[in-house]
Amino acid sequence: MLKKQRIQLPPEEVLQKTTLRRDLLKTICSELLPKEGAITLEIGCGHGHFLTEYAKAHPDSTCIGIDLLNGRIERADRKKDRSPEKNLHFLKAEATEFLLALPKQIQIEAYFLLFPDPWPKRRHHKNRLLDSDFLSLAAQKSSPTSPFYFRTDHCDYFEWGRKAFEAHPDWAIAPELNWAFEQTTVFQEKAESYQSLIAIKVDPAKSKEKSGKELSKEPSHRLILQNNRH
Ligand SMILES: C[S@@+](CC[C@H](N)C(=O)[O-])C[C@H]1O[C@@H](n2cnc3c(N)ncnc32)[C@H](O)[C@@H]1O
Repeated sequence: MLKKQRIQLPPEEVLQKTTLRRDLLKTICSELLPKEGAITLEIGCGHGHFLTEYAKAHPDSTCIGIDLLNGRIERADRKKDRSPEKNLHFLKAEATEFLLALPKQIQIEAYFLLFPDPWPKRRHHKNRLLDSDFLSLAAQKSSPTSPFYFRTDHCDYFEWGRKAFEAHPDWAIAPELNWAFEQTTVFQEKAESYQSLIAIKVDPAKSKEKSGKELSKEPSHRLILQNNRH
């Protein structure tokens, strides 16, 4: 069998493609989204199971699901077309590019990140979405006290995410909060168990206090909302 060869584009072509993609995303966002206000964002929405049901239950929220893969967005769109909701949209977009393309007057009122790709190998950890830069951007784009719902079946990524939120001056883990809405996703269905946490954007005055403080030594089990088996 012939080995698949990766074609390397010259840097200027890569830059041109990236710029075109980002410009297109900005245009789509400005046409699709309200001129101002708040939206709920699911990152890595897959086939859209979660957000379709969430949008039905929250008719006053504008719900946007994004995913890197065309095939998943196409399936999510088919699901959306079968439901009468007008407050739901799926877009093929990468999370950081989407946040950067958002019109300035739009804020994220809630983030959902459900069963993200865990990138288990150490040398691939750099691909994990939850890092300090991403959390800074997510905080910058969110409404005051927005929740960020994170759920995974990968223990190591859960710990990684917990530490990233805990170490970040703009976010605080809120073990007292309840999960906003339950709807089994495709990856949740396959998982033997999973863990969840909710982080809240802290207001900038308190954020300074937090960054000066020693990081929480709270044992991780207190921060885990659920460790479910089904
Ligand atoms: C393991 S799947 C989980 C899908 C769905 N949330 C579920 O629970 O069934 C992770 C999804 O995240 C998408 N994804 C990975 N990195 C992403 C990124 N940076 N921005 C947007 N989507 C991303 C992948 O394409 C994939 O569909």
